[in-house]
Amino acid sequence: MKFFVDTAEIDAIAELNDLGMVDGVTTNPSLILKSGRDIIEVTREICALVTGPVSAEVVALDAETMIAEGRKLAEIADNITIKLPLTWDGLKACKILSGEGRMVNVTLCFSANQALLAAKAGATFISPFIGRLDDIHIDGMDLIHDIRTIYDNYGFETNILAASIRSVNHVHECALAGADVMTAPPEVIKKLAIHPLTDKGLEQFTKDWEKTGQKIL
Ligand code: E4P
Repeated sequence: MKFFVDTAEIDAIAELNDLGMVDGVTTNPSLILKSGRDIIEVTREICALVTGPVSAEVVALDAETMIAEGRKLAEIADNITIKLPLTWDGLKACKILSGEGRMVNVTLCFSANQALLAAKAGATFISPFIGRLDDIHIDGMDLIHDIRTIYDNYGFETNILAASIRSVNHVHECALAGADVMTAPPEVIKKLAIHPLTDKGLEQFTKDWEKTGQKIL
């Protein structure tokens, strides 16, 4: 499963990228707001740092303007993925932009039927939002399983990009469910390394090593 990092914070992306943990980046208008940066400038910096796909989201609501915004965002770098909302206009824009050979990420997906439409419109990625479904007491992980089954049934090549990941359990369950990619905030990716038994075991080894009186260096 590929790891995308869901942020527009350059330092956080760089830290994870240095460890080889970043296969791509996803941003959205809320993340751009949080960064306090200009969308074009910050996206250009991210694209220079990361070799994988970098999603930049359009903000128009009509297909024609979405297409124009998507083409402008795609000029930033070759690894731009144009992020479009899962609406009829977004699907129209997806069909046109993917037909031009551009990478497209269809976002704000909350049902398997929506994912089916995105695949038929030629999306490179579909982004089902797990955490936001959990927020309204619907198991977001069921959606990942359903999309995986449907895409496999019909051989759709659209990548399942599990989004709105809020916990390490989400990451674990996405990997078991066969999501192609998951995108998570940097803090969730860093938490994947943490286990209380690792900390406890290390504490014991350190104490015992001190008792040996030996040194390696
Ligand atoms: C994905 O592309 C979105 O940017 C993101 O995962 C949304 O996550 P949230 O529901 O935690 O805001």
